[in-house]
Amino acid sequence: MSADLGEAARRVLVDHLAGAGALDAGWRAVFEAVPRHLFLPPVYWEFVDGSAVLRDRAADPDGWLAGAYRDTPAITQWDDGDEVAGRRDFTSSLSMPTMVALMLRDLDVEVGHRVREVGTGPGFNAALLAHRVGAGRVVSVEIDKAVADLARANLAAAGLGGVRVLVGDGADATVGEGGRADRLIATCSSLVTDLPLAWLDQTCPGGLIVAPTATLFGGGAVARLQVADDARSASGRFTGSSDFMRMRQQRYQAPPVDAYLPGEWPGDAQRSTTDLDPEAVGASWLAQFAVGTRLPDLYYRRAPYRETVTWWFFDTAVTSWATVDSVPGADEYDVRQSGPRRLWDEIHAAWNAWDKAGRPGYERFGLTVTRAGQRTVWLDDPGHHWNPPTR
Ligand SMILES: C[S@@+](CC[C@H](N)C(=O)[O-])C[C@H]1O[C@@H](n2cnc3c(N)ncnc32)[C@H](O)[C@@H]1O
Repeated sequence: MSADLGEAARRVLVDHLAGAGALDAGWRAVFEAVPRHLFLPPVYWEFVDGSAVLRDRAADPDGWLAGAYRDTPAITQWDDGDEVAGRRDFTSSLSMPTMVALMLRDLDVEVGHRVREVGTGPGFNAALLAHRVGAGRVVSVEIDKAVADLARANLAAAGLGGVRVLVGDGADATVGEGGRADRLIATCSSLVTDLPLAWLDQTCPGGLIVAPTATLFGGGAVARLQVADDARSASGRFTGSSDFMRMRQQRYQAPPVDAYLPGEWPGDAQRSTTDLDPEAVGASWLAQFAVGTRLPDLYYRRAPYRETVTWWFFDTAVTSWATVDSVPGADEYDVRQSGPRRLWDEIHAAWNAWDKAGRPGYERFGLTVTRAGQRTVWLDDPGHHWNPPTR
């Protein structure tokens, strides 16, 4: 693919983003001006339909360039750069262009704003921001030194070397030179219950925080929070679904199943049946978000065996577990529950609450974070709490 074809592919991508309503005129000009392929290493993996597809510039320059201008994420690092471990989890990437555009739209930046980004990755989002507000007004924090070095080189090659890329944990209040930003954007997700409180100190009163959030259970959404005048809290609605890699320090290492069930299944578990198919919960990112925000300490494992899919549910305190067998076409599903909590009953109740509320979408949910450490998810208005109080 020649440079001209690269230009054409870029225009097609920008038209696609604009057609999807993700770009206003200001951002359209920026996306046209900043070439995405400048932020891709010679080898990356395009994430297409759930699979990572190798793009190698030396072997297939056209495929490499074309992948830069499709609406797909590009994986640029696996396993925190530990090549020996093999390729299990991707740990740095260029995000999907639609997602980048939607979050920048949510950020509502103006020329001259000071912007702080958390999660630089290869630096494309920082470059877009720098183009919009001025390179000297963007500070981006990246936890991985090798990734930060790459971003600095990419930004310099794109003529945006004025962006300050800091190496550190973006949840740490001491990273950076102080001074509040007008806008803070994160491009790695935090658990809803763990949204970094440092961001309240790093953002101006009245300023905006746009951050992808996740739940342990599954499901995630972008939170758009306005910092209160006294900077003691930030509050706002979720704007849409998201699925970003988790902040490094918030990754959850689940204990082995033996820690819950030392002997043979079903052990001492109580048996019952349910009319709710766990596959229905698992099939909906939104339903998982609704359940996961209400029950922030639960997680699941899905174990298919022939026709049956067994869903395992666990609590992080390692006190209780449940299984539900999903069999295609069944009206009732076999349930086992063990421990002081009845985890499936709790999940079913959370599903019922969401169903009774009219299956609200992300935009009806909101989040309030206080300096005292509370993260409250609410439905429709901040007084209507959806999740149990945290801390
Ligand atoms: C999805 S990538 C960033 C995408 C990027 N901003 C872009 O332009 O498309 C997420 C990045 O967040 C970084 N990260 C993870 N945890 C972090 C933390 N606590 N502080 C700062 N960066 C973090 C990862 O190393 C990774 O490079």
